[in-house]
Amino acid sequence: MELMTPKEIVAELDKYIIGQDRAKRAVAVALRNRYRRSKLSEALREEITPKNILMKGPTGVGKTEIARRLAKLVKAPFVKVEATKYTEVGYVGRDVESMIRDLVENAIRLVKDEKFEQVKATATVNANKRIRDILMKKQKPNAPKTTTNNLADGAVEVVVEDDKINPEVLLKEIEEGKWDKEIIEMEVIEAPRAIEIIPGNQDTNISSFLGGILPKNRKLRKISVAQARRNIVNEESARLIDMDSVNEEGIRRAEQEGIIFIDEIDKIAISSNAHGGPDVSREGVQRDILPFVEGCTVNTKYGIIRTDYILFIAAGAFHIAKVEDLIPELQGRFPIRVELDNLTEKEFYRILTQPKNAITKQQAELLKVDNIDLVFEEDALKEIARIAEMENENNENIGARRLHTIIESLLQDISFEAGADHPMSKVVITKAFVQKELEQTVKKYDLSKYIM
Ligand SMILES: Nc1ncnc2c1ncn2[C@@H]1O[C@H](COP(=O)(O)OP(=O)(O)OP(=O)(O)O)[C@@H](O)[C@H]1O
Ligand SMILES: [Mg+2]
Repeated sequence: MELMTPKEIVAELDKYIIGQDRAKRAVAVALRNRYRRSKLSEALREEITPKNILMKGPTGVGKTEIARRLAKLVKAPFVKVEATKYTEVGYVGRDVESMIRDLVENAIRLVKDEKFEQVKATATVNANKRIRDILMKKQKPNAPKTTTNNLADGAVEVVVEDDKINPEVLLKEIEEGKWDKEIIEMEVIEAPRAIEIIPGNQDTNISSFLGGILPKNRKLRKISVAQARRNIVNEESARLIDMDSVNEEGIRRAEQEGIIFIDEIDKIAISSNAHGGPDVSREGVQRDILPFVEGCTVNTKYGIIRTDYILFIAAGAFHIAKVEDLIPELQGRFPIRVELDNLTEKEFYRILTQPKNAITKQQAELLKVDNIDLVFEEDALKEIARIAEMENENNENIGARRLHTIIESLLQDISFEAGADHPMSKVVITKAFVQKELEQTVKKYDLSKYIM
């Protein structure tokens, strides 16, 4: 359960997303409200359904980024889907349901991980013991070794080497990881085929379903002790936890704490000035989404889930279509509306420097691999921010994505020239360099200012 206060959530989001305070606050409050609700009596809880959020704002200002960060932050079941995926050819109505199934899948994994963590210590103890038994068998020599010592008085002493490995000592060594690289032979369970569970992947249910019924092949394999330990811990853990309770708890979590983020929701709205074509399927998708947002029950392989208390957060640029172009029933189900702000020079400068994963930091790290020590001067960053805003104003407004294009073109040559076979060299990006590299762009806009 998310125990973070709204302030803490916002503070965490602040590390990655510049500005957009209203959107951050809205999601933070919505998250906290889940927690508050969970503390109420059952009867009251029944009455309170979450207030879904609709985030609206120009392209490239952080809508998806907020969702992404939120997903990392919350320990609640979370899925992010793109509304457009349901309009693709081949998708039929009931596939919208897959987002609920994915949420449950996600919740189950969450619970499983928690339970695994709880039994891990026990499982590891058992695993190390089993490894010791295997090692003991392997180490046992066929005949006891003897050494003969000629003693000073002419007598001969025969020393029988102790072939008994001290199990206690060995176990301790195994626990300490001293044997990790040792290769041992043991039975491993072979999965019928690689099964990957990717949220949003339609195959998920089929492959994991198959994984459950196909016979498991046991094969004798030579593997390292470290690998063996991982295998055994997994097996043991699965044995130690009660899967039925995991499923139950998973369903409960998805139901009570689940969050579904529907991105690009504007793409399934029907703009009032468009006609015919794919619009039919768009409205269809809206109608398909509606029951889940309104609250219904869905059958999953883990059990039946009610969707009434799932929190939905939708986001879209709403450039062409307006929020009002969504079918009214759907609009009504997203009572909290937050607008994200257009980003300007000031924010761009901060985006370039402040976030933990700032693009300038990323580029510097990348080039460090090739022995380039990349440094941006203050002035240069300010100039990049200024040009970014100018380009967004005069060209298409693509928000913070503009920074990516500028940085890319700025570093193109350096990136190309860099190679690991030269000593570490410092490259300083100055304002003059930025202006020279982006000369064409800058000139054009400064001129256009006067023409207009
Ligand atoms: N406010 C912000 N702070 C930091 N980085 C940002 C911000 N806004 C956008 N970015 C960066 O710009 C890129 C695009 O942002 P994002 O994917 O969130 O756009 P979006 O609002 O979802 O746009 P779209 O409507 O086109 O989907 C990301 O790499 C993100 O890191
Ligand atoms: Mg987006």
